[in-house]
Amino acid sequence: MKSFRDKRRDNRPQHARPEQVRPRDAFAAGRQQAASERREANPADRQDAKQAPRVLARREGVLPAERLPLILEVAPNADYALLDSGAGEKLEQYGPYRIVRPEGQAIWQRALLAKEWERADAIFTGDTDEEGIGRWRFPKQPLGETWPMKHDDIDYLGRFTSFRHVGVFPEQASHWDHMAGLIAAAKRPVKVLNLFGYTGLASLVAARAGAEVTHVDASKKAIGWARENQEMAGLSDKPIRWIVEDAVKFAEREERRGSRYDIVLFDPPAYGRGPKGEVWQLFEDLPSLTDLCRSILTPKPLAVVLTAYSIRASFFAIHALMRDTFAGMGGTVESGELIIREKSAGRALSTSLFSRWVA
Ligand SMILES: C[S@@+](CC[C@H](N)C(=O)[O-])C[C@H]1O[C@@H](n2cnc3c(N)ncnc32)[C@H](O)[C@@H]1O
Repeated sequence: MKSFRDKRRDNRPQHARPEQVRPRDAFAAGRQQAASERREANPADRQDAKQAPRVLARREGVLPAERLPLILEVAPNADYALLDSGAGEKLEQYGPYRIVRPEGQAIWQRALLAKEWERADAIFTGDTDEEGIGRWRFPKQPLGETWPMKHDDIDYLGRFTSFRHVGVFPEQASHWDHMAGLIAAAKRPVKVLNLFGYTGLASLVAARAGAEVTHVDASKKAIGWARENQEMAGLSDKPIRWIVEDAVKFAEREERRGSRYDIVLFDPPAYGRGPKGEVWQLFEDLPSLTDLCRSILTPKPLAVVLTAYSIRASFFAIHALMRDTFAGMGGTVESGELIIREKSAGRALSTSLFSRWVA
């Protein structure tokens, strides 16, 4: 059986730059891009345009209990701090470096004095088409592409990327800690699937907590970075499978093969592409992927964690989707936002919506 997403595959060259649409304020651009991709695509190019989409089963049974709104907060810590925000930018401390990046949500005034912002080591300018580090300015001295970072004693690399990302999404730490707690408390072998896994921090946290991890990402480059992080963290002996693959195709294959997982993490971008040009569009593909995630769970699963960096939906939308999908499984669906607490004036910077089913 072909993927429900094959119908959207086209033959144009892949430009897998999904990170481009990652931040919430970039999603409008991502949606525009997606819309124009749709307009450009010639249906005749699609190999199987008539392929029927996955038929979503109506899940029988009582809906999981619900807990919302749940705001998961990352406070300033020794490894990472949101130092200040305002005037459309944020000032963050990533290990040794102070970094300034655009932040569309920071519509308020800065709390710190200009001289604090002027102490920045790196500023994302995005003013060239160049790939990588060329889009960054280093006011004090030129910096290399990567630098050492730590999360809860896991060493990894921060990285100046073309799309203003720095190789980690610090707000995800709330999920990592929660997941590590579930793995430790299970006191049995736990299998974790990390879809859209990027540089692998969640996979490393899960592996260190004792899980057997499968990490899937469409980008070979991202998988390379994740492997580097595994080495850097001294976790090379931990069981992590690194897979370059379209997330949906991989999940479909696991469903067919009967491979099952106790925890599934999925943190899809608004728009992305698989390695063979498979188009991922959050609003079109999320219901099917959520359903697939349910069908690849073990008989005694622990959690399914969905994060969505998109402002077009509220967390109520993904909450309803998750609750419908996990009907009949008991447990609770908890939904809300991931926020980072600012050091200067204590304001909350919202980064994303999330919804998680917990057994
Ligand atoms: C939103 S980031 C994930 C961030 C990560 N979960 C974290 O918190 O660090 C998006 C990732 O999805 C990947 N991606 C985009 N489209 C994909 C697809 N169709 N299949 C698999 N991965 C995809 C990108 O390569 C990128 O690494």
